[in-house]
Amino acid sequence: ISSFPSYINLLPSVQTCNITNLPENYFLKYYLYHALTWPQLSFVAVVRPKGGYGRNNRNNKTAFLPGEEYPKVVGYVLAKMEEEPSDGVAHGHITSLSVMRTHRRLGIAERLMRMSQRAMAESHRAHYVSLHVRMSNNAALRLYRDTLGFEVEKVESKYYADGEDAYAMRNDLKSMW
Ligand code: ACO
Repeated sequence: ISSFPSYINLLPSVQTCNITNLPENYFLKYYLYHALTWPQLSFVAVVRPKGGYGRNNRNNKTAFLPGEEYPKVVGYVLAKMEEEPSDGVAHGHITSLSVMRTHRRLGIAERLMRMSQRAMAESHRAHYVSLHVRMSNNAALRLYRDTLGFEVEKVESKYYADGEDAYAMRNDLKSMW
């Protein structure tokens, strides 16, 4: 797992990961905006070929599958600071999080979230982090509420383009200062 600036060339693959896993998608320039404005807050999880690249890879035949590009993006968290917080309190926001199906239940999302939250607290003195999640998204709800300790702040009616409601959730970060 690495922070975004060192992987700016992988942003198109991050975008592909997002499109594969979620209906809420963004223009490439929005990923770039996150990476350039809050470089500490977003992270990408990649897998590399076993044994390394090219000539150093003694296992070349099995390490590269036809059509596959390495390093391969298997997860990301896209995060920012709220630019004009309505409550006047500095806080972070998770714009998007997803992990490819092939790499789920390995703790990648939890790790991405913890790294982003720590960076929000340490780099920006964020009081809390907020996010929206579909009410039907049980996996994400379990992750946010049970694993990470988020609480539901309110329900936002018809938040999503297809009319589904969202839980607006938040997690206190002041204990990480
Ligand atoms: N069912 C129940 N609990 C789950 C599930 C699941 N399918 N997935 C994760 N959890 C909970 C568990 O408590 C898990 O701990 P455990 O495995 O020890 O039981 C804990 O979360 C940590 O799980 P991770 O392995 O870190 O989660 P993963 O890397 O699989 O990613 C994610 C979870 C991001 C929700 C993934 O399922 C995904 O990409 N889903 C589709 C995209 C999505 O819904 N993204 C979130 C949208 S909201 C937003 O972007 C702000």
